[in-house]
Amino acid sequence: MTADAAILFSPFKLGDLQVKNRIVMAPLTRIRATRGTDAPNELNALYYRQRASAGLIISEASQISQQGQGYIWTPGVYSEAQVEGWRKVTDAVHEAGGLIFIQLWHVGRISHTSLQPGGAAPVAPTAIAAKTKTFIESGFVDVSEPRALELEEIAGIVADYRKAAENAKRAGFDGVEIHGANGYLIDQFLKDGVNRRTDAYGGPVENRARFALEVVDAILGVWDKARVGIRLSPVSPANDALDSAPEKIFTYLVEQLSARGLGFIHVVEGATGGPRDIAPFDFAALRKTFSGAYIANNGYTRDLAVEVLRENRADLVAFGKLFISNPDLVERLRRNAPLTAPQPETFYGGDEKGYTDYPTLEEAAE
Ligand SMILES: Cc1cc2nc3c(=O)[nH]c(=O)nc-3n(C[C@H](O)[C@H](O)[C@H](O)COP(=O)(O)O)c2cc1C
Repeated sequence: MTADAAILFSPFKLGDLQVKNRIVMAPLTRIRATRGTDAPNELNALYYRQRASAGLIISEASQISQQGQGYIWTPGVYSEAQVEGWRKVTDAVHEAGGLIFIQLWHVGRISHTSLQPGGAAPVAPTAIAAKTKTFIESGFVDVSEPRALELEEIAGIVADYRKAAENAKRAGFDGVEIHGANGYLIDQFLKDGVNRRTDAYGGPVENRARFALEVVDAILGVWDKARVGIRLSPVSPANDALDSAPEKIFTYLVEQLSARGLGFIHVVEGATGGPRDIAPFDFAALRKTFSGAYIANNGYTRDLAVEVLRENRADLVAFGKLFISNPDLVERLRRNAPLTAPQPETFYGGDEKGYTDYPTLEEAAE
């Protein structure tokens, strides 16, 4: 290990949790839950166990209700079978010495009628269809036209988040990450390109942040604040969600989160999976606004991660695609060893191929 990379492997205290290094496994949807129940299974448990040397694992996004589902065969966390399935995953990760938070997800308008209860339209802050695709049994298709949520319905969705957070506790997770990024429901409320409401949930920043903060407050009624974080993607165009003045809404939101003592914010810097410099945004200032930990993500390499940690622009760094193809990413970064390139054809759906069969360094040497 080169001396200046040591910071990547130094421990970090996240509330009462001892995180063993600064390397986080980013949330990664893999479309491999059990068909019919959307419950995690033994194969999923093996996949996470293989990656338990990460300081912290954030699970793939998990729908809080059937309405919150947007892609086929993603895991849920609202039924007993799903809670039991997740228990296999958390046990496996803990046995291997890891920590795992669940990412709680409601997709809002990024869904398809074939996935919705009773074949209904997906819900959104405003009835504007996203120009994007989703994944159903037959493959990638355009998302369906959404309908606007009635004011009276919103409390029910907040209650679903709360129930899911309780389920996550019973399933043995160490904490929760609220999915507030990538153009899903919370981000749809935050961004004025999607949210055109004229009631208490639309318009000024205080209104557009209301739903996110109600979800946070509901979850803080279940989990200790240090065990709760939120993922945000202020300038990412993912799933057709953009804001005309992201610095304004995200500064306000993060001030509010800071006042609540939330454990961390997990920030996708730039376009999710794309250019880090897609739009000007002062991520260092956002970090300074927040009292808790800052997890940086998007396009990080070993060198870039070391730099951001050394310059104190982040506490932890999340790696996505590299964790798909390198189960022992931590060890490879420690040794500065070659990395296996990920195979996008097997990202979404399928079996163990491109999932649990990526070799460790030792296996590759055999
Ligand atoms: C296959 C795949 C699935 C993903 N699923 C999720 C997800 O469930 N939740 C989420 O917040 N981000 C998801 N992302 C985004 C990643 O967490 C991450 O932000 C992105 O890959 C950029 O990080 P990287 O450059 O280290 O890969 C996904 C990305 C990929 C490639």
